[in-house]
Amino acid sequence: MMSSSQQYLVFLMLLLFITRCVLLCTTDPTDGFINVPLTEDNFEIQRPYDVPLEERYSYKNGTRRLWVYADDKPHDPNSHTQPRTEIRIHGLDYSSGVWQFEGHAFVPNGTSGATILQIHGASHGATTIILRIYGGDMRYYSGQVMATDLYDKWFRINLIHDVDGGNVTVFLDGAQVFTTGDQGPGDLYFKCGVYAAPENISYYMESRWRDIKIYKK
Ligand SMILES: *[C@@H]1O[C@H](CO)[C@@H](O)[C@H](O)[C@H]1NC(C)=O
Ligand SMILES: *[C@@H]1O[C@H](CO)[C@@H](O)[C@H](O)[C@H]1NC(C)=O
Ligand SMILES: *[C@@H]1O[C@H](CO)[C@@H](O)[C@H](O)[C@H]1NC(C)=O
Ligand SMILES: *[C@@H]1O[C@H](CO)[C@@H](O)[C@H](O)[C@H]1NC(C)=O
Repeated sequence: MMSSSQQYLVFLMLLLFITRCVLLCTTDPTDGFINVPLTEDNFEIQRPYDVPLEERYSYKNGTRRLWVYADDKPHDPNSHTQPRTEIRIHGLDYSSGVWQFEGHAFVPNGTSGATILQIHGASHGATTIILRIYGGDMRYYSGQVMATDLYDKWFRINLIHDVDGGNVTVFLDGAQVFTTGDQGPGDLYFKCGVYAAPENISYYMESRWRDIKIYKK
């Protein structure tokens, strides 16, 4: 049993801790999530079907570099989609729960009209969210700007999909920059790299990625 003075001391320390925390504690988007271990098998690369992998992708010193040209072929001869070189996170499709993608990204100046991160699948439409770079800004599809001035620098991106809650949230360098409703459950998976938008695309598109991680609750 604690004496009342000991209890008072504990109370004081708790108060001090809470006050400090309100002022100083930073929360991390991954707090409360479990890291899902990845192997190279989880990284499936999609690229223009008629060019060798090493002409659109490299993986050196921990950095994955993906690039594509506006006049490239789609990833599949039967597809009529825009050109892409993308990592499709393979083997971790989800349809419920709360999932999170984390990565450090770099987009060179000049790349424009390129989706660098998306959640594929939805109950309505093909995608839940698309994060596109236009002239150094990051937009939700071609719409709302969530960040500016992203060229030629590394930034950390966290994308959380709460399927049960029906929302998606974007964090850049730990700060929440965007949230919106999702498009309903489906066969869902994360993709990153470069996927040409329907309009206003630069001839050359590139993004680089380090420390890609998947988390879930
Ligand atoms: C390899 O990556 C590290 C950062 O993780 C960087 O400090 C180093 O300069 C890189 N080395 C080369 C040869 O690019
Ligand atoms: C990007 O490149 C253009 C053309 O070279 C230059 O005018 C612009 O200042 C560059 N932007 C950044 C953020 O470096
Ligand atoms: C997403 O939905 C869940 C469930 O309603 C809610 O708890 C959470 O705060 C929502 N997230 C955001 C960022 O709005
Ligand atoms: C493409 O660029 C043109 C000219 O700047 C602009 O009017 C149009 O809205 C842009 N389209 C999209 C989808 O951003």
